[in-house]
Amino acid sequence: MKIFAHRGYSAKYPENTLAAFRATAELPVDGVEFDVHLTLDRQVVVIHDERIDRTSNGTGYVKDLTLAELRQFDYGSWFGEEFAGEVIPTLKEVLEVFKGTNHHINIELKSDIFVYVGLEECVLREVEALGMTNRIVISSFDHEAVKRVADLAPAVENAALFVNMILDVVDYQEKLPAKALHVFLPTAVRKPVLEAISKGSVVRVWTVNDIQYAEVLLNIGVDAIFTDEPEKMLDFLTKSR
Ligand code: G3P
Ligand code: MG
Repeated sequence: MKIFAHRGYSAKYPENTLAAFRATAELPVDGVEFDVHLTLDRQVVVIHDERIDRTSNGTGYVKDLTLAELRQFDYGSWFGEEFAGEVIPTLKEVLEVFKGTNHHINIELKSDIFVYVGLEECVLREVEALGMTNRIVISSFDHEAVKRVADLAPAVENAALFVNMILDVVDYQEKLPAKALHVFLPTAVRKPVLEAISKGSVVRVWTVNDIQYAEVLLNIGVDAIFTDEPEKMLDFLTKSR
């Protein structure tokens, strides 16, 4: 079972900041997950929420602010004073952190609330420019975006994200098409997911911070877990080998 650091090493560092990604890049985990939005001036930035309020000292929607405006705020102090001065990273800056590593990179398109026209093209262009296409997984709760990735770049790994599980998920996956299923922890032991695993679907589960759940998922054969606690999960997997 693989380990992806969720929003970087988000238990110990402010989520989706270069500090969280640099710490992840040092770890022998398999991958990293982060979330992207499009700014007013069409730059791809890495942040979880549609608004900057929760994770910065600023206010407003990412979509209503330019990169220069977004950069004026502090994205570290809310987590701890030692992280003061962290700025909102661009996709390019985050990709560069992992340029020299072997980590898989899961870019989650946060277009499920607002429509970000052309976000898929922007992301694919930046990944291609850095020659990292074969190391990425592009996922979204917005399945129209998942489909667009399949149309634009059939060789790139795309993944459909789910909060609730659906019946006949494998048929749905084939129809989209999506190369992987990213499912919510409480649904991971439901019949449709177990069926998908038995039929060979790649299933990754978010967000797993408890060892007891990691153990269950290891036993049912999921491909990977997303966790805020990558070192804790590495330790668990090492001991269970
Ligand atoms: O991509 C897995 C997980 O990150 C999805 O939920 O809200 O943490 O982005 P969220
Ligand atoms: Mg996410």
